[in-house]
Amino acid sequence: MLKGHHNVNYILPLGLVLACLLGTVPFARIKYRVPLQTIEVVPRIWPQEADVLEVVCRYLREVPRCLAVMGDRSLHRYRAGSALSERNPNGFVGEELMRSFAAFFVKTALVPVEELPAPPRGWPNDGDSDGFLRWLVDFTEERVHLPNRDRFGTLFDAVGIPKDAMLRFSESHHELTPRSFKLLHTDVHRANVVVSKKHLSVIDWELAIYGDPLHDLATHIVRMGYGKQEQERMTDLWASAMERAGLSELTAGLYEDLGAYVAFEYAQSVFPDVMRAALAIPGDADEQHFRAAGEQVSRTMGRAREPLDLVEVPSLEQMVEALRTWHSAAVPTAVS
Ligand SMILES: Nc1ncnc2c1ncn2[C@@H]1O[C@H](COP(=O)(O)OP(=O)(O)O)[C@@H](O)[C@H]1O
Ligand SMILES: [Mg+2]
Repeated sequence: MLKGHHNVNYILPLGLVLACLLGTVPFARIKYRVPLQTIEVVPRIWPQEADVLEVVCRYLREVPRCLAVMGDRSLHRYRAGSALSERNPNGFVGEELMRSFAAFFVKTALVPVEELPAPPRGWPNDGDSDGFLRWLVDFTEERVHLPNRDRFGTLFDAVGIPKDAMLRFSESHHELTPRSFKLLHTDVHRANVVVSKKHLSVIDWELAIYGDPLHDLATHIVRMGYGKQEQERMTDLWASAMERAGLSELTAGLYEDLGAYVAFEYAQSVFPDVMRAALAIPGDADEQHFRAAGEQVSRTMGRAREPLDLVEVPSLEQMVEALRTWHSAAVPTAVS
């Protein structure tokens, strides 16, 4: 059993009969994916991952395909190898793997967008990078911040998130250069990368969207935990790979606008990170649990300081105290 943020995945060998019925290799391993009940913190514009995978697997042959969908559960091929998060949880990934990531982003950008499922109504027009970033900001405000104020509002306030956080962010991040919209994965971090014999395969396409490719690069460089030099190297490799593939228009305004998407990643993460930290504190928590949660919140708020234009953030002690107060008033059977 493998548990991610959004699903529980059961890895099973497939018997002969079922393999024949599903049109795949007998005795190969498969992944049975069962969604978890979670708070919505990231946009999901295409409800069925299988619809996206159908298109993706035509062009990225290494991505494990979906074999069957049963309501909200699904069966996927399981790729032999190990997750990068197990092999290398936070160290340098190295030049070779970074080049593979750059090649992955090129292949993803080359997936014909007309084959993708339609985006939701009101989706920003192709090339409207400014509208795309605004859509992401509005999603964070309307679907993540506001619906969770009843339960977490006092905690958000106490750890120093301004009520108008998203508005502040928008005011200082706009007028992006137009870039063509492409398929984006949006969650290319170590736990979503399976490596075998130096080849990589990116799994977990349920958060894929259609939009400005710089957003994909930004979530990647932040969520991989790259240091400054690695971030720069990855950006350069991304740009040269796009240029070599004839996609140089995607690199327009790269060095100015990547900063806006990186800032957005830090700004939006204050809501999920604070909620996750609070919900991870057990009912019978001791001092260490509160301190660990406080340290996590403190890191998140530190990273959001510039993007949210915060003059001051509360001290670690104040954050620990805020979590303690929230926890003592919280419903004990809180679901995560
Ligand atoms: N084919 C695979 N090979 C190795 N590890 C895998 C594979 N599929 C999933 N995993 C592991 O299981 C975890 C959860 O799977 P994932 O599909 O990313 O689900 P979630 O949507 O919950 O993140 C992954 O982060 C990875 O560590
Ligand atoms: Mg995952």
